[in-house]
Amino acid sequence: MSAEVRYNLAHTMFSDRTRWNRQENEWTIARERVTSSGWPLLDLTRSNPTECGFAYEEEGIRRALASGEVLRYSPNANGMAVAREAVSAYYKNQHGVAIAADNLVLTSGTSEAYSFLFRLLCNAGDEVLIPAPGYPLFDFLADLCDVKLVRFPLLYDHGWQMDLAALEQAATERTRALIVVHPNNPTGHYVSDAERVRLAEFCHDRDFALIADEVFLDFSLCEDNVRSFADLEGALTFTLSGLSKICGLPQMKLAWVAFSGPEGRKREAAARLEVIADTYLSVGTPVQLAAAALLESRGAFQKQVMTRLCKNLSELDCQLAQQKVCTRFECNGGWTAVMRVPALQSDEELAIALLNEGNVLMHPGLFYDFVRPGHMVVSLIVPEQEFAEGIRRVLAHLNR
Ligand SMILES: Cc1ncc(COP(=O)(O)O)c(C=O)c1O
Repeated sequence: MSAEVRYNLAHTMFSDRTRWNRQENEWTIARERVTSSGWPLLDLTRSNPTECGFAYEEEGIRRALASGEVLRYSPNANGMAVAREAVSAYYKNQHGVAIAADNLVLTSGTSEAYSFLFRLLCNAGDEVLIPAPGYPLFDFLADLCDVKLVRFPLLYDHGWQMDLAALEQAATERTRALIVVHPNNPTGHYVSDAERVRLAEFCHDRDFALIADEVFLDFSLCEDNVRSFADLEGALTFTLSGLSKICGLPQMKLAWVAFSGPEGRKREAAARLEVIADTYLSVGTPVQLAAAALLESRGAFQKQVMTRLCKNLSELDCQLAQQKVCTRFECNGGWTAVMRVPALQSDEELAIALLNEGNVLMHPGLFYDFVRPGHMVVSLIVPEQEFAEGIRRVLAHLNR
């Protein structure tokens, strides 16, 4: 059989939605080359909290995972009541927001929560509005659910803000939902109170659902009180978060969707979501039984992260102040900062040069949907010494 026929057979066997271009980009190839050379790499993209030197309350976590009736299976579509009550207590204690356990559905991750919502809200080819720049995983999640993402731009003018006029223009008759990331990854800005009111009206008037991704909500670097979307009533709202960032425990695979909004819409959404969740029953029993203890352990973790974020940001500012070529964008929360670099080449080319010449790994802005060059994204949870040395090398390279 010729190679061509074999290709065609393979081609027809698989769905179009999984026909991704899986060819590695130049940046990934360069990273593999430097990693396999054994040369020590300063990785400023590190965002896995379990690999960033934070101390966890290991004994307590282990005990929590082994306690209760872990050998008994008594499934509940929306998640075990004890776990949903723990999430409800988190909202009350951390954000002063009352969410009944009945208005929560547990999922194995925020990614799964998105899939549930896309399936709940969209027919094939329907559209969801997302902010750009933004989080890169959305494209794959949307592909897998046959949803079309339509980007609306964020503007930078005395801080990041939504371009509400562009948002209105981006909406079509196929639009079903609007996603906001609060604070956004990688720009680190929160949706302002004024924007929140406008967004609720925007969604309510057009019968769109509002999806608020709040995985970084607790990591605020600004003085203002940040407000969760979880009690927004003006439009049907789904608020997403989970242990992955709140407790620095992505391996536990416990996240949730909280829903709020007009009663009729909310009730219908709850009933349909319950069927979706019942179809998968994806969250494991041990982590649900441990949810209360794991959530209680967040204080110690978040304290360490906040110290790290503040130290790294102030180190970044200190080094930036000693030169004039590079600056950073305002950042109010979350785990990343965006640097403004000279746009003399593409961001990917710059990132590859930094790898080859300085052994520093950074994400080019392109990966986060920055349309123009001149942006590099840095993780602020990288251990402090590594962060300082990495930034030193980046700035030395840019100031040659
Ligand atoms: C904005 C945003 N949402 C969701 C996620 C994924 O979270 P989870 O681990 O709960 O799937 C991430 C991961 O970095 C993220 O940055």
